[in-house]
Amino acid sequence: MSIRTKIAGIGHFVPDQVITNHDLEKLMDTSHEWIVERTGIEQRRFADRKTETTSTMGTEAAKKAAADAGIDVSDIDFIIFATLSSDYFFPGSGVLTQRQLGLAESGVGALDVRNQCSGFVYALTVGDTFVRSGLYKNVLVVGAETHSMGLDFTTRGRDISVIFGDGAGAVILQPTTEENQGILTNSLHADGREAEELSFICPGSHSGIHDNETDFGFSGGKFDSIFMTQKMLDEAKVFPYMNGKHVFKYAVKKFPEVIMKVIHAAGYQPTDIDLLIPHQANLRISQFVQKTLRLRDDQVFNNIQKYGNTTAASIPIALSEAKESGRVKRGDLICLAAFGSGFTWGASLLRW
Ligand code: ACO
Repeated sequence: MSIRTKIAGIGHFVPDQVITNHDLEKLMDTSHEWIVERTGIEQRRFADRKTETTSTMGTEAAKKAAADAGIDVSDIDFIIFATLSSDYFFPGSGVLTQRQLGLAESGVGALDVRNQCSGFVYALTVGDTFVRSGLYKNVLVVGAETHSMGLDFTTRGRDISVIFGDGAGAVILQPTTEENQGILTNSLHADGREAEELSFICPGSHSGIHDNETDFGFSGGKFDSIFMTQKMLDEAKVFPYMNGKHVFKYAVKKFPEVIMKVIHAAGYQPTDIDLLIPHQANLRISQFVQKTLRLRDDQVFNNIQKYGNTTAASIPIALSEAKESGRVKRGDLICLAAFGSGFTWGASLLRW
């Protein structure tokens, strides 16, 4: 009997602090109407800057997922952590979560995945492969983000800062031999030609290329760090950049493509799907995808209205809420799909 990977437990955590569009109107020249019309977002959660980080939120979600799976956190034998907003530049948030879960002494491995909006689908696929190979039996996969720490909340950054929110979701992956359960197929893709179209490029190792007017070379015994330069700060390069229209066009093409790919690979049609959980990028993107695939309203789950775009956290938060509200039941055919920075995109099809 072949082994598949099932999602044995799921949980999510969002910070208490609710930030409405009207709150953002106080910081920048924007309006509730503009944000709702273009993105569908009505509010988002922001982490408490004194107490919450990506790993602390990820840890809370992980504890809930472990409880939902009926295991003790000490049973977790591998951690995969997907985020673009890790607590530190390095090490990643996986090891911090391992420590916060009390697993440091056990030496359980921790891997960070940096695939932005597609991070959870990439991490899930890696975890699925580990479980199916027999290497691990209780893999924790976390998607968590703290966007609010690093956005430009002036009018200059309004096209991006109104979109993103904070939160975390987590799942526990286990092997199953049940015929009608588990991950059926995954599909992962990338197009590096689009890397800068949705990016946060400074600070980084390309700083000298970014500032090609200053002589940073080794001269006269002088060789400073150029990781963070004055030019980056002056030109506001230390914030995310997004070519919004380009992202939109690419996303509405690649989402349906990769969703069809996993559905067909498993021998199904879009009409067979019980629930599609798209990465919550933008409600307009989800609606476009729904229309393209001719899915009914009850076949698609969206909660971006409440949380904004939480990047790697959006799918596990949405899946967790869908399960809580009874929209995911044992045996349901569920499709998870994501598109984002890189560009990277991917999908997973599973029987719950
Ligand atoms: N409030 C008010 N006005 C704004 C705001 C804001 N927050 N942001 C931009 N504007 C203004 C612009 O300055 C511009 O003004 P102008 O006409 O005077 O120059 C006007 O609104 C239109 O700006 P556009 O950038 O052309 O707006 P567009 O219709 O493209 O909408 C948006 C912008 C919502 C970002 C859109 O391009 C989009 O949906 N893109 C998809 C990208 C996306 O959703 N990314 C999510 C994150 S990435 C991911 O998860 C895959």
